Amino acid sequence: MKAIEWVSGKIRLIDQTRLPWEMVFLELDDYREVASAIKEMQIRGAPAIGIAAAYGMALGAQGIEAASKEEFTAKLRPVSETLSATRPTAVNLFKALERMNRVAEAGEDVARIKEALLAEAKKLEEENEAANRKLSTYGAELIRDGFTIMTHCNTGALATAGYGTALGVIRAAKEQSKAVHVFVSETRPLLQGARLTTWELAQYGIPFTLIADTMTGHFLSRGRIDCVIVGADRIAANGDVANKIGTYNLAVLARENGVPFYVAAPTSSIDLSLSSGDEIPIEERGAEEVTHVSGVPIAPVGVGVANPAFDITPHRYISAIITEKGIIREPYVERLRKVFQG
Ligand code: MRU
Repeated sequence: MKAIEWVSGKIRLIDQTRLPWEMVFLELDDYREVASAIKEMQIRGAPAIGIAAAYGMALGAQGIEAASKEEFTAKLRPVSETLSATRPTAVNLFKALERMNRVAEAGEDVARIKEALLAEAKKLEEENEAANRKLSTYGAELIRDGFTIMTHCNTGALATAGYGTALGVIRAAKEQSKAVHVFVSETRPLLQGARLTTWELAQYGIPFTLIADTMTGHFLSRGRIDCVIVGADRIAANGDVANKIGTYNLAVLARENGVPFYVAAPTSSIDLSLSSGDEIPIEERGAEEVTHVSGVPIAPVGVGVANPAFDITPHRYISAIITEKGIIREPYVERLRKVFQG
């Protein structure tokens, strides 16, 4: 299952807004369509957003006609700006665009820059899948045979270049022949848990129980859950984590009930330029995501709504951050910095 792929000069992606009801592939040949697919969450999940943006840059570059490198880079700027103005929280998006812009600047002539941009996007995709497999193998050390694991949102193949992060850890544990059971929180408002994570787990043959978000405290307090594992959209230098709205609730409830709370993410989701989670921009999305469920209204017309897509979990609630460079525990400030030095 490939959430996103470069196929014959186009970007092919699974429209995740239509899952699990129907499998629809989109073929995009305009970078503006890529920006809109990211905004509308047809492609979503921090690593997948970064890869989509990188391929979006390659696509935008293919369409540029320019007589000089200077003209080309000037015309590439609006492509990068359009892609960056889509979703503000996942740092993978901005890191991917930075990388692509550096490649464009380093290139010699227009034809070679176009080739180099596509090669870089492919490299980014391959690197992410490799990182996910590696962090998943590390993370699986934390999972014992017979564990029941709670997870939130969707962090699987759909959210990444492949394999997944938090869901990757669960897959790796199962591949090591450990019996695992997953409690999947539905993840209102857009139901990534109910729609996407259950869909993936069924394909991997991993047993699960779907619960409403409001039930998480109940199950955490009953001794039914051995650990919680979630992904991340951005990890600040002190270990604070931005992830899908509701993650903070889970972390506090896990601590209250003595349940380990793990974050699994590639180092491409770490942003050392921000000292704490307070500095991470939180995306605010449209009211209709809260007033409607799958297009059906559930509230009176015109009610006031708030819809932050992410929340911040302070690092003190996080038992460990699982990355492709290893498992990181407190003190996060030094240990996260070390990851980028070594
Ligand atoms: O709004 P989404 O669906 O893009 O949010 C996704 C998450 O919060 C994931 O947990 C995170 O991006 C990590 S995906 C490997």
